This record gives sequence, C-alpha cells and structure tokens, in this order.
Amino acid sequence: MNIQPCIRTEGLIYRYEPGYPALNGIDLEIPEHAYLGIIGQNGSGKTTLVKHFNGLLKPTAGEVWVYGRATSSRPVSELARTVGYVFQNPDHQIFGATTREEISFGPRNLGLSEAEVEERTEEALAAFDLEAYAELPPAVLGFGLRRKVSVAAVYAMRPPILILDEPTSGLDWRSARELMALVDRLHAQGHTIILISHDMRLIAQHTQQTLVLQEGRVLLYGSTREVFQQHEVLQQAQITPPQINQLASRLADCGLPQDVLTVAEFCQAYNRLKEARE
Ligand SMILES: Nc1ncnc2c1ncn2[C@@H]1O[C@H](COP(=O)(O)OP(=O)(O)O)[C@@H](O)[C@H]1O
Ligand SMILES: [Mg+2]
Repeated sequence: MNIQPCIRTEGLIYRYEPGYPALNGIDLEIPEHAYLGIIGQNGSGKTTLVKHFNGLLKPTAGEVWVYGRATSSRPVSELARTVGYVFQNPDHQIFGATTREEISFGPRNLGLSEAEVEERTEEALAAFDLEAYAELPPAVLGFGLRRKVSVAAVYAMRPPILILDEPTSGLDWRSARELMALVDRLHAQGHTIILISHDMRLIAQHTQQTLVLQEGRVLLYGSTREVFQQHEVLQQAQITPPQINQLASRLADCGLPQDVLTVAEFCQAYNRLKEARE
C-alpha cells in the first residue's frame, strides 16, 4: 500500500540569521495518519522544523509541501485550516477574555458561520472537559488547564494535522496522562499527530514513528520501535531510550526481546518466558 505523505520536505534549510543554519538539509516524508514523535536535544531544530509545516516559517532554501502544495506561496491563515500548531508555551498562544472566546477565535477566523463557530466551540469545550471554565478568563486557570485550553483552541479548527510542541512540559503526571489520552483519541479519529517531547517514555508509549534531530539534521527516522533499538546512534544525540527498554537490553541473556517499549510489553514478554519454563 502506498500511503501519500501529508507533509514532505526536500533540502530544507533555515537560517534565523547569517551563519550556522538551524535546519541544515532536511528530507522528510510524513505519511498521512502518522503519530510521529520528534525528539532531540534543546536547540536541535524541532520547533524550527514544525513551524515550517504550518507556514509560520518559510524555507531559506529547499521546499516544504503540505498535501502536495508548497508552503512558500501559501499564507499562514490558509494553512491553519490544514495544520494546527499548539505552541510550546500556552501563554504565547492564549489571549481570549474567556475560555469560550479563546476557543471560538480560530473557527471564527476561518470565516465559518456563527452557528458553525458555536457548534465547534461547544464541541471542543465538551471534548476537553472545559465547560465549567467556559466563562472564566484562561489567565486565572492553572497551568494544566491553560494547556488544555490551548490544545482545545487548535482542535476547534479541526485541522487534519495537529502539531503539539512539548504539550506535557510543566504538567503533573495526572494532567499529562489526561492530555495524552485526548491526543490518542484525536489520532484514533483520523488526525495526523506530530508530537515534540523530551519524555522518552511518553514517545515510546504513544507514537508510531519517531524522528531524531541533531544539529538541524535527521539523525534517525523510522518506526518508534526501530528507533529506540539504535542505542549507539541515539547516544550521539545524548538520548537514552526509555528505562524499560534499557532494562530489557540488560536482560537480553535471559531471553527478553530487545524491542520492548512499555512496561506492559515487558510484562507480556516476561510472562511468555515464564510459561515456556513451566
Ligand atoms: N528566534 C530565533 N532567532 C535566532 N535563533 C533562533 C531562534 N529560534 C531558535 N533559534 C536557534 O535555532 C536553533 C534551533 O532552535 P529550535 O528549533 O528552537 O530547537 P528545539 O526546538 O529543538 O529546542 C537553535 O540553535 C536556536 O538557538
Ligand atoms: Mg523547541
């Protein structure tokens, strides 16, 4: 089966200023319906790369295509229908006087009818369990709720591609888990998800493909399972695979498989070993 890429880049170079480029020749195809994780050290180019997908940045050289159309000639406002970008810091995104207004801003900006704007706003408030906060200014909400509002505001525009830039940073474990359950649901509903994170366990648990950036270049790109098996290559980017994967590696001589990504998979493999011995 030949799945069309929804995003493609060729020879993508980006310089913020003269000198060393932040992106240094990125060739990439992201299949439609991917659940892609992007990892790499601070400053490796993750945010710069995804800002090219929604047209916030235009290539210094090379080209980026979204659904087959080059972004260089398309305004950000038009790309916003297709690619939703949830900012790394929710406070760089939120400016509405109330949560409801914040969420309705995007759909209204798309030029939809007031009835449609209202329908989408109510649906997003419900999907993100934010109804109780609809009339409150987002500024008075806690960080976890402000993060949820920032995701709901992008979700309400119903873009087929959703980019989340470190969505769980600053969240406690429970809020992070709740947010990721929502992201998983959006993926199951057919959205393409692009997730930047420093949390390797989260990337291993949720994503299907992983892209590793190092100094503005692609170090690794493939299925998440394959990528996390490349311990030595990952070390170049100072990335350590999830602990459960490291543990399985240490226990290779007991027969533990090397491509374990989650505690659940580890337990399954362990139980199989135990049964074989009994
Ligand atoms: N607005 C900017 N002006 C100048 N340089 C920038 C700007 N934003 C990022 N950079 C530089 O570009 C490189 C990539 O940054 P970034 O894409 O933010 O990395 P990441 O998201 O992986 O941490 C870094 O060297 C960073 O210092
Ligand atoms: Mg970043």
